[in-house]
Amino acid sequence: MAKIIGGLATSHIPAIGAAIAKGLQQDPYWKPFFDGFTPAREWLAEEKPDVAIVFYNDHGLNFFLDKMPTFAIGAAPEYCNADEGWGIPTLPPKRGAPALSWEIINHVIEKEFDVVTCQEMLVDHAFTVPLKLFWPDDNLPDVVPVCINTVQFPLPSAKRCFNFGRAIGEAIANWQSDAKVVVIGTGGLSHQLDGKRAGFINKPFDLKFIDSMVHDPEWATQYSVMELVEKTGTQGVELLNWLAARGAIQGVVRKVHSNYHIPISNTAAATLVLETV
Ligand code: DHB
Ligand code: FE
Repeated sequence: MAKIIGGLATSHIPAIGAAIAKGLQQDPYWKPFFDGFTPAREWLAEEKPDVAIVFYNDHGLNFFLDKMPTFAIGAAPEYCNADEGWGIPTLPPKRGAPALSWEIINHVIEKEFDVVTCQEMLVDHAFTVPLKLFWPDDNLPDVVPVCINTVQFPLPSAKRCFNFGRAIGEAIANWQSDAKVVVIGTGGLSHQLDGKRAGFINKPFDLKFIDSMVHDPEWATQYSVMELVEKTGTQGVELLNWLAARGAIQGVVRKVHSNYHIPISNTAAATLVLETV
């Protein structure tokens, strides 16, 4: 039986990709953010997961506004990145885990989550930047992309995302394999890129949300999507990816590390490492 060893979460801002490419990790603007990854990398070096399930949202690279699945799961042998127009380097393809992808797809459809299955899937900065942050040497585990629509309304509810993650966690636990699996949620925390509230950040909410991820994972499911937008901004609602990842982890977790830093670009940037106990 496969084992979920823990969960990681981080913001996924394109400017981070540019900062990595330019080697700006020690620059005063970037240092407080990049320093937050050292404990995560140490934990990963110790735990050595075989597979990473990455919950993220696509921003128009693979799914555009005219065709937007609520939930899509990759089932490809590899996933390519491509130019999405942010001026960041295109990163090399990532190796998939199609056997686990199909285990997950079969199980979640059985549980009435009618996902789009993608045997070809471009992955954008929301997928590639967090992987580069956690594994800067590119010595990555195999990956399974799980894409949630946090972009084009109507969005799935927080409760639905949490339960979707829970179904994925069940599929992993049922998988006949001795693989060690880590789940990753990307995006958030509070930010709004456009409109009257551009630049909006809500630190008290973000800190409460991070804390709830450890001790009370269903806390945020009390809120509707519109309430989450109100509290975190139109792009802050990307925290649905964190919630889905957390839903995949059953049982008690221990917080290994967290970091919160305002701002990176327009975003309250946060990082979290949880270990199953
Ligand atoms: C920014 C944040 C995001 O989540 C994103 O997808 C793109 C840009 C930003 O803060 O610049
Ligand atoms: Fe985003």
